[in-house]
Amino acid sequence: MEALLEIAENAVNSIEGFKATRSDFGFPPNPELGDIAFPCFRFAKELRKAPQVLANELASEIEKSGVLGSDIAVSAEGPYVNFTLKPEVAAATVFASSIREGLKWGQETPNSKGNWVLDYSSPNVAKPILVSTLRSTAIGGAMARVGRFRGYNTIGINHIGDWGTQYGKLAVAIEKFGGDLPENPGIKDLTDLYVKFHQEAEKDSSLEDQGRAAFVKLEQGDEKILELWRKARDISLSEFKRVYKRMNVEFEHYWGESHYLDEVPKVIAELKEKNLLEESEGAQVVRVTDDKGKEIPPAIMIKADGSTIYATRDVAACLYRYREFEFVRLTWVTGQEQKLHFQQVKDVVRKMAYPWAEKMEHLAFGLYRFKGLKMSTRKGNYVTLEEVIELAKEKVIEIMKSREGADLSIIDKNAEAIAIGAVVFYDLSVDPSKNVEFDVDKVVSFQGETGPYIQYSYTRCLSILRKAKEQLTDWPLPVQANDPCLKKLTEDAEVQLVKHLSWFSHQLDRVVEQNKPSILATYLLDLTKKFNAFYKDHKVIVDDPDLRTARLALVEQTREILESGLSLLGVPLPERM
Ligand code: ARG
Repeated sequence: MEALLEIAENAVNSIEGFKATRSDFGFPPNPELGDIAFPCFRFAKELRKAPQVLANELASEIEKSGVLGSDIAVSAEGPYVNFTLKPEVAAATVFASSIREGLKWGQETPNSKGNWVLDYSSPNVAKPILVSTLRSTAIGGAMARVGRFRGYNTIGINHIGDWGTQYGKLAVAIEKFGGDLPENPGIKDLTDLYVKFHQEAEKDSSLEDQGRAAFVKLEQGDEKILELWRKARDISLSEFKRVYKRMNVEFEHYWGESHYLDEVPKVIAELKEKNLLEESEGAQVVRVTDDKGKEIPPAIMIKADGSTIYATRDVAACLYRYREFEFVRLTWVTGQEQKLHFQQVKDVVRKMAYPWAEKMEHLAFGLYRFKGLKMSTRKGNYVTLEEVIELAKEKVIEIMKSREGADLSIIDKNAEAIAIGAVVFYDLSVDPSKNVEFDVDKVVSFQGETGPYIQYSYTRCLSILRKAKEQLTDWPLPVQANDPCLKKLTEDAEVQLVKHLSWFSHQLDRVVEQNKPSILATYLLDLTKKFNAFYKDHKVIVDDPDLRTARLALVEQTREILESGLSLLGVPLPERM
């Protein structure tokens, strides 16, 4: 379809007086009208003609010129000129373009587009992975996988929150209330202590000061506090890795905030040397503006007590990462509440006169809301990521058990993949900038616009192919793109499905450009609907061997794109449902 777009563009521009660009083209609201539409309004204005009249003239001139060849039809519909790939050649054309040596459909040559650093997931030490981290993990992971598939060398960095005042507080909490801490404390014990600290601090405000003082000591290398910090960090890391394994998420690097500490003094020295530091109420700050040059609150680099803050370590991380990777793009994936923070960090780097500052961007997402519950670890009313998965899993099992002919062994083997798929897909199906409202019935439904709905169609493809393999003596797949049997795919549902498949790479590019995995999620939902429409009305294993082969090829191509698409989103592939 991208090729068709190019052909349409060339056709329009071959007619005298036209200088159209790619963005002039669009899609007809109804696929029956055509695959690509060229609206004539702008040119009609320039040429002082009625758009309808111009559309008619343009269509017939293109037709007469013969530039389109015999496979593409052109017609005028109101003020639009529509281009359509003829049904009998659709499958052959589309399948031909999908086959490239050694690459999957939609994949670009690996490592052809440079290094892309993605900073995502990044939970905080001494707390369990909360459901709020799910969004960063799901969105960041999807962006990293899609980026890699489209040719970037993506580098996923988990910027663990393993430094900062909270570790001073943790040290104080262990000292004061850690009496009955077990020999080998777990993440839950540490979280309980953190909650306890904040409860007590409400009564005794000096605790906060003690926490801050302990952090200053930690930064100065106090061995006792460092020892506590190391322990808390180890406990947390092994817990994080367990959850990531369950979700099948991988990072190139676990570089937490503490990873960049050696870089911090160099950054401060450089800021001084470049005359960027100013004193403000005892702290050292840099004056900054947003991307449009509007002044925003200054970025504190050194607090009055001499300790560093989150932003200091982030600036250090930028310099370190650029030196290490010379990235062509760096994306921070966090909640939108950190918008100001990343504007400040980026502008500090810009003020340091590094032109690559412009390559850094913030992918900010909305809140995760859990049925009216506002979550706060400090207060102890938090929901962990795994609690959400368990909730979804219970529901999945309930649904599967209630179905006719339920098979316990299938449920056992696949419930986890379906539950994780449901939770991840739901999150990704929402535009990142919007809030996610978690409602387990909606998330897990097998019929709604959900992960399980797509997974179900994927398993249906598998079972059609399995059945055909059992029944046919000579297995016909893979089919060459020039196989004449493909001409038999002319039913409307077949042609719509073929054409939808062909948009896969284009949609992946939009995901990369706009930082929106939701574009891929929507694409896969539409693909599933089109596949189901085809399957509802057409038998695949028919008597006519050519038609049967062609339909099997169509099912196989659909299966492949569903497999790639779901995997890119991080949605597991169950074998049966
Ligand atoms: N740990 C932070 C949080 O939980 C997210 C870190 C994001 N990345 C960064 N480079 N600051 O909010």
